[in-house]
Amino acid sequence: MEVIIQPNSEAASFLVARIVQRELRANPHLVLGLATGSTMEQVYRHLVRMHREEHLDFSLCRTFNLDEYVGLFPSDPNSYRHYMEHHLFRQVNIDARNTHLPNGLADDLEAECRRYEAAVKRFGGVDLQLLGIGKAGHIGFNEPLSALQSRTRVKALTPTTLAQNARFFGGPEHTPRRAITMGVGTIIEARRCLLLATGASKAKVIADAVEGPITSMVSASALQLHPRCTVVVDEDAAANLKGAEYYRWIFANEPEWEEYRVPGGT
Ligand code: F6R
Repeated sequence: MEVIIQPNSEAASFLVARIVQRELRANPHLVLGLATGSTMEQVYRHLVRMHREEHLDFSLCRTFNLDEYVGLFPSDPNSYRHYMEHHLFRQVNIDARNTHLPNGLADDLEAECRRYEAAVKRFGGVDLQLLGIGKAGHIGFNEPLSALQSRTRVKALTPTTLAQNARFFGGPEHTPRRAITMGVGTIIEARRCLLLATGASKAKVIADAVEGPITSMVSASALQLHPRCTVVVDEDAAANLKGAEYYRWIFANEPEWEEYRVPGGT
């Protein structure tokens, strides 16, 4: 695992977008794993700008989102399909047929989960998986106690997640209680994982996920098992990291990160 600490959330999200840009330029057929949530909005804003101003081409790329609520129509403003259309898909030259999210309206949700797993495999697996992290350590909707080898499945959301979501749905009684999510095992099969966390509210969970024990209580801690995982944080989210000086030294000195040390672009 590599940890990159940036001065603020703007710089952190820009760095994540630059990594995506580089991977997409190197492989226009990239299979990109996508996340939703407020942290990712800034990344998508940078990618949209890169598309408009720097000709970043999405025409051949394929995307698979981590998760979708059960029971919401794609047109629902709270559905993750709607989020993706709004923040990315409609603003870049991606082919709609190449964008995939689990279908939370499927009659047979178990079959839908199997279909989604199979679709990821059919496209050769995810090359680069973008991840946010919930305050309880979830990646996707892999809530605490999610098996570290879990596959795509229906997950009941914890009271903490329901409470966090309630403001978007106009109260807890309107908040979906279940979602389809890629499993922890599915996620860590991606060839590269890239997690972004910003803000003081993520400081504790980032320290737990990066430097704590690998435990199903913090599903992001499974990323410690991944051979190529980059965690990008801002100073606020890095506040509890014991190894911060070491991580800073690596970013400042290792050749792999040279191009990213130049603020401004690739
Ligand atoms: C949603 C997802 C979640 C979010 C996480 C952080 O697709 O993958 O794991 O990334 O809940 O959300 P924000 O960025 O809103 O704090």
